[in-house]
Amino acid sequence: MRQPLVAGNWKMNGTRASIKELLEGVKNGMGEVTIAEVAVCSPHIFLCDVQQQLDGSAIAWGGQDVSVHESGAYTGETAGAMLAEFGCKYVIIGHSERRTYHGETDQLVAEKFTAARKAGLVPILCIGETLEERESGITEEVVGRQIDAVVEHCGIGMLGEGVIAYEPVWAIGTGKTATPEQAQDVHAFIRARIAASSQAVADGLQILYGGSMNAGNAADLLAQADIDGGLIGGASLKPADFLAIATAANA
Ligand code: PGA
Repeated sequence: MRQPLVAGNWKMNGTRASIKELLEGVKNGMGEVTIAEVAVCSPHIFLCDVQQQLDGSAIAWGGQDVSVHESGAYTGETAGAMLAEFGCKYVIIGHSERRTYHGETDQLVAEKFTAARKAGLVPILCIGETLEERESGITEEVVGRQIDAVVEHCGIGMLGEGVIAYEPVWAIGTGKTATPEQAQDVHAFIRARIAASSQAVADGLQILYGGSMNAGNAADLLAQADIDGGLIGGASLKPADFLAIATAANA
C-alpha cells in the first residue's frame, strides 16, 4: 500500500520566530498522526533552523526548488547537494508559481527532477492545468504532457523515485477546491498514464492533491482511491489545520 504523505508548502512566508512556533505546534500534535508521513517545505533561508528543530522527529523537510546545476556561477540558486546537506528529504519541483512567474518549462522541470535525484532528494513534481485549460477541455492533455516530459528525460524508473502533486492552478490559494470527483478523475488519469509505461511504478507512486486543501475538505479528498496525500499551502501555516489534514490522511 502507498503511505499517505502530507507535505506543507510554506512558500515565501514566515519569520524565524513564527516558524519556530509553527514547528513546535506541529511536533506537539503529531501523536495522532500514526500512518501518514508529514513533511514541510521551507524557504531555503530557514532550512538550518528547520533542521535543528526537526532532527530526530518524525517530520521530514524539504526545499521549494532546486537548480539544474551542481555548483558554479548561478546567483541566487540552490544546488541539490546544498539542500541535502541541510537534511532535506524532499524538494518541490515545477510548482505552478515557478512555471508562471519564472517561466519554467516542462523541459527545465524535467532537468530539475534529475538534479534532485542526483543529490538523493525525493522530488515532489507539481503538475496541473489552468482554469482556461480546464474550460477548454484539455486538462488531460496538459497533465499528460507535463508527465511525459519527465518520463522522456528521466525514464520511468526515476519518475517512480519521486512523488507527483496534482495541483489545478485555479485551485491554488483561491479557496476553490477541486471536488473529490474532479480530483479523483485526474489522479486516475495520471496513474493510468504512468501505468502505460510501468504498472509497478504506477501502483507504487504517491500522487498528492494540492489546491486549497484544508481541515474541512481534506477527508473527502483523501478518501479517493488515487489520492495519496496532499501538498498544502495556506493551511500548512497553521498547526491545527495542518495536523487536522495529516490526521485525516491516517484514515
Ligand atoms: P494552497 O497551495 O493550499 O494555498 O492552495 C497549495 C500549493 O500551492 O502547493
